[in-house]
Amino acid sequence: MVAKLKAGFLGLLVFFTFYNYEEYCFIPLKPNESFFSQYYRENSSDSIKVLLGQRLFFDSIMSRDYSLSCATCHLPTKAFTDGKAKSVGIRQQQVGRNAPSLANVVDQDSGLHWDRGVPSLEMQVLVPVQEHAEFDFDLRLIAERMKKNVSYLHLSNKAYQIDPNPFVITHAIACFERTLISNQSKFDQYITGDLDALNSSQKKGMKLFFQDLYCSRCHNGKNFSNFSLQNNGLYRLKYPNDSGRMRITYLEQDRDKFKVPSLRNVAITSPYMHDGSIETLEAVIDHYASGGKIHPNKSHFIKAFDINPEEKKNLIDFLKALTDTSFISKKY
Ligand code: HEC
Ligand code: HEC
Repeated sequence: MVAKLKAGFLGLLVFFTFYNYEEYCFIPLKPNESFFSQYYRENSSDSIKVLLGQRLFFDSIMSRDYSLSCATCHLPTKAFTDGKAKSVGIRQQQVGRNAPSLANVVDQDSGLHWDRGVPSLEMQVLVPVQEHAEFDFDLRLIAERMKKNVSYLHLSNKAYQIDPNPFVITHAIACFERTLISNQSKFDQYITGDLDALNSSQKKGMKLFFQDLYCSRCHNGKNFSNFSLQNNGLYRLKYPNDSGRMRITYLEQDRDKFKVPSLRNVAITSPYMHDGSIETLEAVIDHYASGGKIHPNKSHFIKAFDINPEEKKNLIDFLKALTDTSFISKKY
């Protein structure tokens, strides 16, 4: 208990020390993941914290001009993506990347964003809040808005025994995000014993995915991703406008590498890739079948293969079996 209190106190201290910087930059150039995870993570399923986080997630008080909330770019009905190639933020500004799904985001808590540059869900909240193209705002000013609202004041005190502040906002939203679990797809039913949950086309596609083709070299595990940083040959030689992981490490060997995305609910999260440059699953398969573009950092797993129209349909049908209808129809 004492140790826990001490750790909590230290966490607060570290948080506010960082927070008080004039130009507070929470994203270290080379994130020391274990250091941050120790202090920033709060694995609480406390329903009051989750409720508070949920309200904030859907509330446009988060943005300077009240025009958007987190859910503007992370829509529950689209598995928390926005259907756009690249997201659009405050004053219709375009954000540099495609909005990823937040389904099971808890499983990649130590390496968020397409470059894995953000080491915890708590810290991640700061990015959209401060980004000039997203909320263009300030956690302290969000806290001031919350203090004028009786219900937020009440929830904040009940959850954290303190009036709204940046700590409360970041932690509550992270708690809510950790509840976004998607594990009720047809594939899940199949894997947990209902062998009829997949039709024959989907079973053929599953075999292609796991056995005949190389997809599961990177898209494996319960989220169909090992969350490693890879180059899958999207562009020839050099990517336009985004060097991926190299933005974090400055290492040439990391140029144009991006996080392998989860494929859960992938049939409803188009357009695809970090820049939303591929619109359909069919085109994604064509990309892999072509062997990808020539690039010095392209993974050696990405090689050209032959696939006939029926097999292509099988593979897409399998990917459709990863859609979790209960997850995307949940009301908040
Ligand atoms: C203007 C659109 C927009 C808004 C508003 C927005 N996001 Fe995002 N979100 C994105 C984009 C784009 C990315 C990918 C960023 C990157 O990789 O650099 C992202 C990434 C994330 C990630 C990392 C997911 C992963 O797979 O790595 C989390 C978590 C997240 N957002 C949560 C939030 C929360 C919480 C809010 C509100 C406080 C929010 N977002 C507001 C567009 C948005
Ligand atoms: C070497 C690792 C690797 C292998 C093998 C691989 N992928 Fe990927 N996949 C990635 C990476 C990395 C991305 C994201 C690339 C980017 O955004 O620039 C991605 C993106 C995708 C996406 C888009 C998902 C989204 O939400 O944007 C789909 C769909 C996909 N892969 C399917 C497949 C299929 C099907 C196969 C097998 C034919 C396969 N992948 C093989 C690494 C891999």
